[in-house]
Amino acid sequence: MPTTPLTLKAPAKVNLTLEVLGRRDDGYHDIVSILQTIDLCDTLTLEPADAIILECDRAALQSPDNLALRAAHLLRDATGCEKGTRIRLQKGIPVAAGLGGGSSDAAATLKGLNVLWGLGLSREELVRLASKLGSDVPFFVYGGTAMAQGRGEQVRPLPPADLKWMVLLAPAIEVPRKTAALYGRLTPSHFTSGALTRKLEARIRGGGDAPPQFLFNVFDDVAFDAFPGLERYWQTFYSLGAREIHLAGSGPTVFAPVSRKEVGIALQLLLQHQHGWQAYLASAWQPPEGGKL
Ligand code: C5P
Repeated sequence: MPTTPLTLKAPAKVNLTLEVLGRRDDGYHDIVSILQTIDLCDTLTLEPADAIILECDRAALQSPDNLALRAAHLLRDATGCEKGTRIRLQKGIPVAAGLGGGSSDAAATLKGLNVLWGLGLSREELVRLASKLGSDVPFFVYGGTAMAQGRGEQVRPLPPADLKWMVLLAPAIEVPRKTAALYGRLTPSHFTSGALTRKLEARIRGGGDAPPQFLFNVFDDVAFDAFPGLERYWQTFYSLGAREIHLAGSGPTVFAPVSRKEVGIALQLLLQHQHGWQAYLASAWQPPEGGKL
């Protein structure tokens, strides 16, 4: 039996590449992307309870739509398990920021409850359930460095990318139904073949690093139109020395790799204290080896 309560880290992610190949008939887009979990994390504590209950330190997230809550209900419905759980969710990842926080919470809940409830589901079974919760959730069942295809739900783990430090800047810009709105701004001129992603994949498989000039995000091109006010954040970030700036997923968070940790700390402090913005220094996060969590 696992020790209870069970505490899990749910890491954020950035897309090192994000290419859209084209529009599909089901309203989604076919993508090819290399994703990387980073050490900016939410924390979940799961303990046995009579029902499924969520407590979150951000009151607005304590709703039936919360993906962690939906993950728990989905797992119970799919397995016929009659157990309950109290999920305590401490947010460390900015919300609706393009960093995958909600999706990561959902994947952590699936993995954690699989252990807590003694269900014994395989990773493939968890991935199948994860894909019902959102396109990014299957990636978080694996974590680390991985390639995603299809609408994002077909995930192939890669060797860890040799990626050190990055600075993230999370602007306070809200756009309703953001992910759908961003995809909706794409035209066929934005569609690419996947070659940029395959180039980075080969580099990572070859034991190489992920050089900044290999990064790509299709949404960069529509970001200023989609997020009013983003341009000022971007330009300030650039003027402070960040060079290869990309949107994190569907934004509005932007990130830039930095050569050294000290450079990253300086940049983060400037953004935070001189401008009063939400900024983070992060590095790649790899899941514990062989662990179910
Ligand atoms: O899968 P998820 O719920 O995250 O997707 C939210 C919305 O983003 C979808 O309803 C769809 O409009 C858009 N989307 C897309 N192509 C993808 C993933 C998401 O068009 N590959």
